[in-house]
Amino acid sequence: MVISSYLFFIDRTLRKWAEMGKLTLFPEMKEMTFEIASVLLLGSEIDNQAEIKLLSKKFGELTKGLFAFPFNLPFTKYGKALKARDFLLQHIEKEIEKRKNNLKEDTISLLLQSQDEEGNRFSEAQIKVQALLMLFAGHETTTSMLTSFCMALAQNPEVREKAILEQKTLMYESDFTMEQIKKMTYLDQVLKEVERFYPPVAGGFRGVVKPFVYNGYYVPKGWQVLYRIERTHTDPNIYTEPKKFAPERFNNERMEHKKNDFSLVGFGGGARFCLGYAFAQLEMKIFASLLLRNYHWQLEPNQDLSLDRIPSLHPRSGLKIALYSGR
Ligand code: HEM
Repeated sequence: MVISSYLFFIDRTLRKWAEMGKLTLFPEMKEMTFEIASVLLLGSEIDNQAEIKLLSKKFGELTKGLFAFPFNLPFTKYGKALKARDFLLQHIEKEIEKRKNNLKEDTISLLLQSQDEEGNRFSEAQIKVQALLMLFAGHETTTSMLTSFCMALAQNPEVREKAILEQKTLMYESDFTMEQIKKMTYLDQVLKEVERFYPPVAGGFRGVVKPFVYNGYYVPKGWQVLYRIERTHTDPNIYTEPKKFAPERFNNERMEHKKNDFSLVGFGGGARFCLGYAFAQLEMKIFASLLLRNYHWQLEPNQDLSLDRIPSLHPRSGLKIALYSGR
């Protein structure tokens, strides 16, 4: 069910883009990943485009307020974001009510059923905020990484050709299945290199539970520390020529990320490692495969490709591309 849902949305989106011919990728990608997240995580009806569009609009308003000055008036970004959050939470509340009598294969249903060893369950308030967090985490970052994937491959034609060759070979071997996805070893290296080169998340905070010394500095218990993902990914002690886009660094012979623990941390690390890793990997691999197999794309000239971090890493132009079907 899950593979076919991804295929359905991605195929439909790529066809639409090919009809458009020229597009700004980042916002278009966000529409697709939001649609996938709201159907698979929230259980929205696939055909209810009006509802998905409204949720997406509200989500956009919420995201804009995340980094705005906290000034709560109806016309400020922050004020609009709070209203949008209330709207989304009310929507999730209604979905929870519906699921109580009719469980589906979505995250809300799973959260409603889950319990710990002592039989404790999540409260409805917890389910509401968890579902909202999933929806945010479940599409913003994937949008960033897939946009960077398209930019990096357009800029590195030899990598793109190699990735196409792998896809074409697999395509003639069998149907699109989970087994086939496991054989996409070069695509896996490319996605790892995109994660290293363009990590969607800049870093994360950790509370210090035990004092330690780092680089001669004493860090006491109770402090907050920030781990920086892009600093780790560009450390020349870990990666050879870190400024070069080179997926081969992740092949079986080199495995540069395996020499030290926590060298590739685009999805975090340790106990708080990304909960949606498998979800994101599947979505990105299916998208990349269909794109490489059936379409060609190139970057439009005269655009600002410098990177903006807010809300997640993306080129300032939004990545203007021309895309056409067939190869
Ligand atoms: C390319 C896609 C993604 C990237 C790069 C990414 C990255 C990350 C990172 C770096 C963290 C750790 C933050 C920290 O250290 O505190 C994280 C946590 C998390 N991610 Fe993702 N993520 C992605 C996709 C997803 C998806 C698709 C979902 C949901 C379906 C998701 C749900 C979560 C959740 C719930 C957490 C919090 C886990 C916890 O604190 O225990 N992520 N993600």
